[in-house]
Amino acid sequence: MLYPQTNRRRMIQELNGFWELKIDRDDSGRNNNWKNGFNKDAIIGVPGSWNEQLSEIGLMDYVGSIWYQRQFYIQPQSIRKQYVLRFDSADFSAEVWLNGQWIGKHQGGFLPFEFEISEFVKEDQPNRLTVCVDNRLNHDTIPQGIFTDDYIEFGKQRDQSYPSTVFDFMAYGGLNRSVRLLVLPAVYMEKVNIDTQIHDSTGILYYRAEFSDNLLDNEIIISVYDEETCIDKRRVKEVSKMLEGQIEIKKCEFWCPDNPKLYSLQFELFEGGYLLDEYSIEFGIREIKLHKNKILLNGDPIFLKGFGKHEDFPVLGKGLSHPLIIKDFELMKWIGANSFRTSHYPYSEEIMQMADRTGFLIIDEVPAVSMNFKYVTDKTLQNHKTVLTELINRDRNHPSVIAWSVANEPGIWGEKEAVSSNADKYWKEIFNHVKKMDISRPITLPTCAVWKNRDIAYKYSDFISVNRYWGWYEMPGEIEKAGAKLKEELLSLFKLYHKPILLSEFGADTVEGLHSTYPQLFSEEYQTDLINEYFKVIKSLPFTIGEHIWNFADFRTAQHHRRIVVNKKGVFNRQREPKSAAFMIRKYWTKK
Ligand code: GCU
Repeated sequence: MLYPQTNRRRMIQELNGFWELKIDRDDSGRNNNWKNGFNKDAIIGVPGSWNEQLSEIGLMDYVGSIWYQRQFYIQPQSIRKQYVLRFDSADFSAEVWLNGQWIGKHQGGFLPFEFEISEFVKEDQPNRLTVCVDNRLNHDTIPQGIFTDDYIEFGKQRDQSYPSTVFDFMAYGGLNRSVRLLVLPAVYMEKVNIDTQIHDSTGILYYRAEFSDNLLDNEIIISVYDEETCIDKRRVKEVSKMLEGQIEIKKCEFWCPDNPKLYSLQFELFEGGYLLDEYSIEFGIREIKLHKNKILLNGDPIFLKGFGKHEDFPVLGKGLSHPLIIKDFELMKWIGANSFRTSHYPYSEEIMQMADRTGFLIIDEVPAVSMNFKYVTDKTLQNHKTVLTELINRDRNHPSVIAWSVANEPGIWGEKEAVSSNADKYWKEIFNHVKKMDISRPITLPTCAVWKNRDIAYKYSDFISVNRYWGWYEMPGEIEKAGAKLKEELLSLFKLYHKPILLSEFGADTVEGLHSTYPQLFSEEYQTDLINEYFKVIKSLPFTIGEHIWNFADFRTAQHHRRIVVNKKGVFNRQREPKSAAFMIRKYWTKK
């Protein structure tokens, strides 16, 4: 699925803006034929989560179905066009109708999906687009749903949040990213896979392109551009639905954080000498490898300095905002970071594009977060593989993506099933599924401390990622002791597995303006000193490959007595203002 593009043969009609909304508390919308239109309850801004923008009508903690509708027009076309409706995300699932006709549905809240609607769309009259979005989860979904009975079964009633979420972030709902109508040629490019290799100073680009249908009397011109200069052009005649090849770029500038060099690959599709379609895709030539307990980028060791993040902003919720994307990248550059993990779900395509352009190294994660293995089923496994397939298909061309993260902290409830032979079989299948799709990138799975060195993730991960809170959830107030415990644990993990280790999470909840002359949890000094202690331990060990502080910014969670509306482990608050730790971190990460 290609990211939408306007060019000589492709048009985009943005469907963002004000939509009409109707709350479907009793799931009666289908029986009442809301697909044919409904009397609105409210107006909602798209892209954006419904929770904060409509909290005054009770949607902050709403879990269920919400219906959206809007109209759009299309102009008569002189030649046949294909019309494709693309949703960049709908959280958590969506069902779509056009002019009352059922178009399709999609499950998964963080990846794009599209429907070809050419047979349903009408020229010269209003087209009614109706979408039913549902943010309910269940035991089989990724992320997993968790319920009161489950908390009672585990004697963890006090841990239950409102709404009930097994993970520590807000279960936002809505059309969180763009909705667009793509006006495409009768036959168009559907997909391009890019892989790159390096041989001395030569970069090698491997491409595989797929088209929507067979082309008659066709010719394809494939060009590589360095900025505006065409550095390679070739013609291929009589192509079938798929085209693959490779191009060598001599004296190539390799992509890296200090020089995020991007070239562009252009395909021009001709049929009978007429330009039918064209598509240009940016690419970076780089190679990522694990070698002697280091991550090598283009043969040189790199150290990952950065954060676990969230897509979470005041009022927008998970809503897409270009200025806020820029703000986060500017702050990460300011603080000296070079990397982040898309904790705990795929981020927007726009964020991935910015990482390519600014040279950030991304660990790309699916929303298999805090899975309780007592409730995992074959359906869960199938859904897990589906979301991995969709993620890798969407993001495999980004040079910024250096690793896949297949889950976060499974087994955090201490359920024995998490270390059972079934769990081992589950993870073996998951890791193999990723390797079958992409052998070019390492795979990891950030773990919690519950299972100590018995966590199955260590067996299958190419590099180990650990989320550790010594000095916060365990040994609170004792920063040095926490540092010693961390060092002891990392040494024993390395001795057992001989794999490089990323500290994928560490940090402390911090209230801006709270200060202390002694180690006081929630004070700015405590966050600064605890993070500094982890830096010291990480720096002292030869097998650590990075440090991702948790979290870049404060973020909203479901309601719970342990959270003051937000998780306050941010180095920046939710409005992106720095806490004092940010200045220590900046000094540490930017010193030459
Ligand atoms: C876990 C988890 C995060 C969570 C964090 C915390 O490690 O991965 O999602 O926010 O702990 O408790 O702050």
